[in-house]
Amino acid sequence: MDKNIVVSGIRPTGKMHLGNYFGALKNFVALQETHKCYFFIADLHALTTAYDKTQTLAQDSRNMLIDWLTAGLDPKKCTMFIQSHVPQISELTTLLGMLTPLGWLLRNPTYKEQLNEIFKKKYAGQTGEAEAVNPTTPTAAAEKMALLTEKEISEMSSFGFLGYPVLMATDILIHKAQYVPVGQDQIAHLEISRDIARRFNDMFKADILVEPKPLLTAIPKVPGLDGRKMSKSYGNTIELGEDVESVRKKVMAMFTDPNKKRASDPGNPDGCTAFAFHKIYNPQACARYEECKSGALGCVACKKQLFELMEPELKAFNERRQVYSQDNALLDKIIKEGAQAAEASAAATLKEVQKTMNLCVK
Ligand code: ADP
Ligand code: TRP
Repeated sequence: MDKNIVVSGIRPTGKMHLGNYFGALKNFVALQETHKCYFFIADLHALTTAYDKTQTLAQDSRNMLIDWLTAGLDPKKCTMFIQSHVPQISELTTLLGMLTPLGWLLRNPTYKEQLNEIFKKKYAGQTGEAEAVNPTTPTAAAEKMALLTEKEISEMSSFGFLGYPVLMATDILIHKAQYVPVGQDQIAHLEISRDIARRFNDMFKADILVEPKPLLTAIPKVPGLDGRKMSKSYGNTIELGEDVESVRKKVMAMFTDPNKKRASDPGNPDGCTAFAFHKIYNPQACARYEECKSGALGCVACKKQLFELMEPELKAFNERRQVYSQDNALLDKIIKEGAQAAEASAAATLKEVQKTMNLCVK
């Protein structure tokens, strides 16, 4: 068996940002040199929440591929594909879904977070019921659900959304991946993938599915412009391919130490977004730390220096992106060949699972 298979995916839910780049994509680019990698555009996962907003899904998927190529993923070194182009993933999801206990899905932190959001909205300003029910157990989550109207539940989540971790487990298990490069936020999902693999092997006394391990990046949490985690949903991003002038404005408006009112005031670089980015772009240049603390470096000058560090890479990225975005024939070829390679690997595992589950295999 191949010892070093890597699988990871990103949902095409909008433009990629520097958080995705430093937290995931840059790691993909390094891993393609050392591992057998399958990287996919998780369009089915995008549908688990945005099933009613699909107008831009196809274009978003292609744009993501353009970003990946621009960042340095090379179809000669790794397999890149669109998740929905590999039908075996949907088939295996159905099979693994049969043996996944509902409790594991109801306990999934992402599911609970969304449930809590709806609850907070519904009971905003009220005390009592909302606080009384704590969704940390499947029963409590079910109790919470019981307090919601049918419309609220259907708006909140679908069968597909609850099953998100089963689909994700399938993505990984279908290629027998040992490693999954992701950010910190995906660890709980990965744990469910491991649990499903173990349950399958135990239940059928088989040694077929491999329990995957996470590969965290050196930068598991890139801050956004406001200091929170950079995320599409917070509107605090710098996008890949964004106009350089627009990035300059964003950098100059970045959140810094609020107590450093004058340039010469001593500042606290810990928790300062501009400093976090200095470290990302130039891990060796920790002189900024001392200069900020002593008051030798003001925030405006610090942010100007930061932009100067970022600008060449951003410009080069934008130029390369322009080239790929005009080469539709190349994109089509990569998408087609990627799907073929991923299907070959997926079909082999699916057949093994079907046989093990005693299905009448064609
Ligand atoms: P978003 O929060 O913007 O919707 P996604 O959830 O689509 O981003 O994340 C795609 C990948 O990028 C995942 O592997 C995730 O762990 C990683 N990632 C996202 N935001 C960050 C961040 N701010 N820092 C580090 N990694 C991140
Ligand atoms: N859940 C991941 C995210 O939100 C995307 C994803 C789907 C994924 N399937 C995967 C990541 C399999 C790694 C492996 O970013």
